Amino acid sequence: MFLKSQHLLGIRDLPSETISIILKTAVEFRKALESGIKKNPKLNGKTVINAFFEPSTRTRSSFEVAAKKLGADSINFNASTSSISKGESLKDTGLTLQAMRPDVLVLRHPHSGAPAYLSRYCNKTHIINGGDGINEHPTQALLDAMTILDHKKSLTGILVAIVGDIAHSRVARSNVLLLRKMGATVRVCGPPTLIPDGFEMIYGAKVTFNLSKALKDADVVMMLRTQWERQNEVYFPSIREYSRLFGLTEKKMKIAKRNAIVMHPGPINRGVEFDPQMADGHYSVILDQVSNGVALRMALLSLILGKEEGIKGS
Ligand code: CP
Repeated sequence: MFLKSQHLLGIRDLPSETISIILKTAVEFRKALESGIKKNPKLNGKTVINAFFEPSTRTRSSFEVAAKKLGADSINFNASTSSISKGESLKDTGLTLQAMRPDVLVLRHPHSGAPAYLSRYCNKTHIINGGDGINEHPTQALLDAMTILDHKKSLTGILVAIVGDIAHSRVARSNVLLLRKMGATVRVCGPPTLIPDGFEMIYGAKVTFNLSKALKDADVVMMLRTQWERQNEVYFPSIREYSRLFGLTEKKMKIAKRNAIVMHPGPINRGVEFDPQMADGHYSVILDQVSNGVALRMALLSLILGKEEGIKGS
């Protein structure tokens, strides 16, 4: 088995060597796609179920595209039209989907720990965490690392500034874990109300509440969306003030290194975390992140399922 564990629940569980293999394999898949090889039948006969209990544009679509490009069948489970509305639990939903014998179950869920919880009951499929609450979004961090490596020689030694709603961001957590494992230095920045107490001690990322300090000499600037859907109180006085203090502009980008790149996991809120034109400017690699998401997920599915000897058992 490629992964030490049957499931991919988070970056926390991945050794740096495994991360490097995933990233190298993703580059190979991208090269093949760019050379005109649109399909690779490596996963013919395999089935991937995307079980998304939260909205998604990028993650769900790219898992679907990736599975199809590898010849697998890809099924989208829509939580809002499922029997969840009749009171079925996550455990029973997971066991039901597993009984249809998918090879992979990609799970996105609003509750942190939902994929880990389901993994205790589902041992006949591979669960890939497609984002759980504020906990982790491992495939996003992997595709982000792949995108950074398109522009920087190595992750080791680079300085990455992650700016925005750190408190509610699984992307921030997975990225800090991955980048630090691979030898990068990470600064996180946002309003004090949106950076949890103890974040620096727990995650080893330097915390600052000042955007200029965060951007100083940064190689990579990763902007985050304010996650209104996870906020049940008011964390800053107004969007205008947030944008003035923490929104990225061309002028502020000059504080970062000259060849710095700007990233965003999406969806973006133009005019809040960015000047509206910043997302399309020459610093931005946001759409490259999306493109890399397909190759990265092809690599992951292929590495997990490629050489497997039937975990489905009886
Ligand atoms: N980056 C990300 O997870 O985007 P989606 O919510 O559109 O999948």
